[in-house]
Amino acid sequence: MVAPDHARLAAALAGRYRIERELGRGGMATVHLAHDLKHDRPVALKVLRPEVAAALGAERFLREIAITARLDHPHILTLIDSGEADGFLFYVVPYVRGESLRTKLEREQQLPLDAALRITEQVASALDYAHRQGVIHRDVKPENILLHEGEAMVADFGIALAVLQEAGERLTATGLSVGTPAYMSPEQAAGDRQLDARSDVYSLGAVLYEMLAGEPPHTGPTARAVIAKILAEPPTRLTVVRSDVPAAVETALAKALGKAPADRFASAAAFAEALSATAAQVAPPSGRGRSRSRRALTAIVAAALGFAALWAWHPWRAAHRPLVIMMDSTHPDRVYDEETIRASGTNADVISDILADLPIVRQKESGGPGWHRYDEVVSFHPDLIIMHYSTFRGSDADDPRPPLKVFLRYFADLDTRFVIYTRSPEATVRHEVDSMLADVEARHHGLLARITVFGTPDHGGGPHWRDPVTAGELKLAVKRILGLD
Ligand SMILES: Nc1ncnc2c1ncn2[C@@H]1O[C@H](COP(=O)(O)OP(=O)(O)O)[C@@H](O)[C@H]1O
Ligand SMILES: [Mg+2]
Repeated sequence: MVAPDHARLAAALAGRYRIERELGRGGMATVHLAHDLKHDRPVALKVLRPEVAAALGAERFLREIAITARLDHPHILTLIDSGEADGFLFYVVPYVRGESLRTKLEREQQLPLDAALRITEQVASALDYAHRQGVIHRDVKPENILLHEGEAMVADFGIALAVLQEAGERLTATGLSVGTPAYMSPEQAAGDRQLDARSDVYSLGAVLYEMLAGEPPHTGPTARAVIAKILAEPPTRLTVVRSDVPAAVETALAKALGKAPADRFASAAAFAEALSATAAQVAPPSGRGRSRSRRALTAIVAAALGFAALWAWHPWRAAHRPLVIMMDSTHPDRVYDEETIRASGTNADVISDILADLPIVRQKESGGPGWHRYDEVVSFHPDLIIMHYSTFRGSDADDPRPPLKVFLRYFADLDTRFVIYTRSPEATVRHEVDSMLADVEARHHGLLARITVFGTPDHGGGPHWRDPVTAGELKLAVKRILGLD
């Protein structure tokens, strides 16, 4: 199918463009590297997919393109040409040799704060300009932010989803996928057609969130699941997933990601302004024209850093007792021995007794899903969490793993260690945990290495904590993990 299409396209454009090779495919179009014969230069030539072209029609496409053609801004990829040729609807933009923000994120996962803010501000200036011309982008996402000579260039202005909205029902009927809804504003996800600047502000907020956190504010196995979260759930607080983000950035981002348009910044410029207030604080000192207060601030920061370094080896620090949280389900089916159940106790009670003579601070907490619960446990800054594999299981029928995974993700960038205990053989659970967390590990390298699985010791039918061998093994594991000798 591709080959005849390719030949037909090459023939249709002969004399104007020579098609070199395919660069990529999106939901709407196929992008080719082409050679502009008249100007002897490489260009990116985008051809709408036949079903999109059919649903939209040439007239509507060319009208839409004409609006885009008027946009002239240093951070907007300009339109070079557009047209219809032998039934193909195409448009031509400069070929960007750099990479898209998507490719950069795939490689780096999280970007340094100043780089993320710089990209956001450049995109915001492009969006603000377009909004003032009455053009809404509707598809702001890392794929549409191209990085050219260190500058962010916004591509596909107003074309992509304007197209879809017009032809929405027909396209849905043909089963065309719009791609990920991860960056859609709630109103867009709900199918609202009257989108304004604030919808783009939300999408840009989602992109900034991903640059800092390593993933967009809402993820899920299906588009439907993601949309449900976009509509109803607050994203995980940024400082939970990335602790070095200044409070002002978190506040600005939370506002940009407001569920209702009225909660957000009225314009992309206002969002950028809120961020640039912070950028001034995090930017490396220029040396030139530094004010006295700036020097004083630098001195305070240096002193604080010096103090932090001291703290790392000071004897006070040596006296610091690691905080060990024993998390447990209170469900009797998950308590390991009769005697404990009769005493209305939990595994955590017994484990706490086993560890009583170690130089640690012990704290018992019940499990249970919910971000507020996870937030709270993170805020204790535990050194070690000892937990039942099913601590986060809701009802008996539920698989414990998704909530467990979410819980562990909250700790991805901290150095908390975990002992996960289970009645099952250690190898089985280790394998399950490893595969369940493979994607988290890919982004937050080292998380899996912080998890110790404590399974059924060979001699018995499970980790019965009153058994001296089992108890001894657990205590030994805790001492080893915390370096207590
Ligand atoms: N101007 C361009 N220069 C170089 N590569 C491009 C350009 N525009 C698009 N591409 C590549 O083609 C791919 C498909 O683009 P597109 O059809 O816009 O879909 P999407 O933006 O959803 O990825 C992009 O991900 C990118 O890799
Ligand atoms: Mg694109």
